[in-house]
Amino acid sequence: MNNLVTYARDGGIAVITIDNPPVNALGHATRLGICEALEQFAADHDAQAAVLICAGRTFCAGADISEFNAPPEDPWLPAVVQKIEDAPKRVVAAIHGTVLGGGLELALGCHFRCAVASAKFGFPEITLGLLPGASGTQRLPRLAGIEKALDLMISGKPMDAAQARQIHIIDEIVEGDLRRGAIGYASRIVAERAPVRRISKMSVDRTAVPPDFFDRYRERIARQSRNQIAQEQIVRCVEAAVQLPYRQALKLEGRLFEKCKKSVQSRALRHLFFAEREAGKVPDLGREVATREIRKVAVIGAGTMGSGIAMCFLNAGWPVVLVESDRVGLDRGVAAIRKNFETAVQKGRMSRDEHESCMNRLIGSLDYADIGDADLVVEAVFEDMKVKKQVFAKLDALCRPGAILATNTSTLDVDEIAAVTSRPRDVIGLHFFAPANVMPLIEIVRGGKTATDVIATALALARRLRKIGTLVRVCFGFVANRMFIPYIREAQLMILEGAAPERIDQAMVEWGMAMGPNAVLDLSGLDVFHRFLGAWKDRPHDPSFCRMLTVLCERGRLGQKTGAGFYNYDGRNAVPDPEVAAVAAREAAALGIRPRRITDREIVRRLTVSLALEGARVLDEGIALRSGDIDVIFANGFGFPRYRGGPMFYAGSVGLARIEAAAARYRKRYGDRYWTPPESLARHTLRPLTKS
Ligand code: 3HC
Ligand code: NAI
Repeated sequence: MNNLVTYARDGGIAVITIDNPPVNALGHATRLGICEALEQFAADHDAQAAVLICAGRTFCAGADISEFNAPPEDPWLPAVVQKIEDAPKRVVAAIHGTVLGGGLELALGCHFRCAVASAKFGFPEITLGLLPGASGTQRLPRLAGIEKALDLMISGKPMDAAQARQIHIIDEIVEGDLRRGAIGYASRIVAERAPVRRISKMSVDRTAVPPDFFDRYRERIARQSRNQIAQEQIVRCVEAAVQLPYRQALKLEGRLFEKCKKSVQSRALRHLFFAEREAGKVPDLGREVATREIRKVAVIGAGTMGSGIAMCFLNAGWPVVLVESDRVGLDRGVAAIRKNFETAVQKGRMSRDEHESCMNRLIGSLDYADIGDADLVVEAVFEDMKVKKQVFAKLDALCRPGAILATNTSTLDVDEIAAVTSRPRDVIGLHFFAPANVMPLIEIVRGGKTATDVIATALALARRLRKIGTLVRVCFGFVANRMFIPYIREAQLMILEGAAPERIDQAMVEWGMAMGPNAVLDLSGLDVFHRFLGAWKDRPHDPSFCRMLTVLCERGRLGQKTGAGFYNYDGRNAVPDPEVAAVAAREAAALGIRPRRITDREIVRRLTVSLALEGARVLDEGIALRSGDIDVIFANGFGFPRYRGGPMFYAGSVGLARIEAAAARYRKRYGDRYWTPPESLARHTLRPLTKS
């Protein structure tokens, strides 16, 4: 037996321990080890039952995802699960941590399951564009019922031990030491001669759902699964569990799993899984770099971002002092925080006690002197270099030595801000996305002089805030906003060419974006982007560049906040306005732009190619470390469809030849100002699909 799985005996109970850190993923060697241990158990006449348990922080968290780019090697997981179920003596799974995907399937192969109360159970395969492919789609409906099983697999969300017990996923919750408890439970089962339960031999209760259940279920999930393939394959598998004998349905599950695994969607989602974990790894930041201790946080500016950022830190347990220059602004910010926590309580996402303790940790202040003992200060005042410099000069004078001074600027030069302090090593950008308490991303902006331990602390902070931190360097707009510029530039040029804003948005939403580019501008405020582009030193001398933004701002159409922008607003409801098309036609005529027929395909292609080209430039300049980081930023900060992998992965999946051909077409039509692909495009778009 290999050293990943060990066999031992405690009296009459065998203990099979999987020890494959960090998460006991079920890679090939682990699967082999389990099979060998099962054979030893079968041959061990003194063992009356076995406990299957894992060392370390969790029970198996699933199949080893890094093996999925190659064909499965025997014994593949479904065979291992079956071998457990076929064991001649009782097998008990002893569960802690997160039992996910293939890990849960392994547990369902066992005849009994016990778990500690803190354990979590789930089938996250859908988040990887997969289905539970080791008999999960067949065993779970037999145990939990058709609808509950589908909900668990389609949502991908984990449940706690109490819920798992309710739907029969576990039989027993163990108090205290899991190994002891599981051995006691196994001994009891043996003593009571509890009948061995083989889930595959159970039948699915088809009477629990109406005859049109599957049709209705498909309708229910149609919206959330738009363009995606795995959801339908899961429904097909569960339907097969109802209609076909177990073995036949299992074969179908195997075929559909392979289909999903080979799909570009699953490759894209697996790419993001590893890219998100790689984002925190920085080549010149070894493990020896210590982090600074953060005990107290200060946030400057209690506007939209400041109050959201304060909530992030409060939620994660830090005391926060929120400083404003203006009494009304402070009261509004604190009230917004209270209201947000209140809503979280009402929605059951937070307890009343947590709400109170968060509010108790918050101090609102109009006095900068209150930040003197803060270990981290996050500035979120107006996006104006002069104001930022004034604030940082004050921070430099008041903050204790070693405090980290961060700016939430979305575009401005972090080095220029750092230069007004006597300690540019301590200055860094922490670019949160709006709404800060919801969005999972922070662009961590490394200035030219930022110290490595400040970067390491920022990356660690992001993890503690349960966010993904991606490290970027200084340029106008960093990665996210810089790449957004060509994206909105093209969207607006297409409006001048005669495509209605709603058509552009609809094409992008149908393709998978959370929102279309025009709706995003309306939501954020057209004036914000207008100012933002106005401050851009390298703004092209191109009269058509983001012309619609300027014209709509001039007409007071600033977006949702003024009830009109690219759309009219009836509350939050966006209503297309023919007046915008008329304005566009007038502007186009003045600029000599002729109307053209623009297809949905062109809309998607032009916007995605513009992203890929700018992404390659960003990588050439070293602003982002890796193509994967750009993909992580767009998937987590801009609602880019995860199943398309992010702009750089998507371009790679479309193929370099097609991207270059599209760029050549646009170059011919619009000139080479924007559309000359960097030579590095091939290197930056064709991402390897494996973990290495
Ligand atoms: N396969 C391979 N590597 C995995 C893995 C898996 N299933 N799960 C985690 N890892 C790796 C991560 O890449 C990371 O590696 P690194 O240290 O080199 O970056 C390391 O384990 C630790 O992972 P996290 O940083 O994510 O650790 P956390 O403690 O934050 O989270 C977790 C732990 C909740 C288990 C999280 O890792 C996770 O969600 N893992 C994926 C679970 C999953 O999707 N399982 C289903 C797999 S598909 C499957 O089982 C198919 C089957 O039905 C046939
Ligand atoms: P905001 O206008 O809502 O809030 C700014 C707040 O700062 C105001 O309440 C103002 O009274 C206060 N303030 C101004 N000068 C101050 C000073 N000297 N001391 C203390 N408080 C002061 O602005 P918003 O939207 O919150 O933006 C703040 C920063 O966050 C900007 O740099 C912006 O670029 C950035 N950002 C904004 C995003 C957004 O979507 N709103 C997204 C990401 C970053």
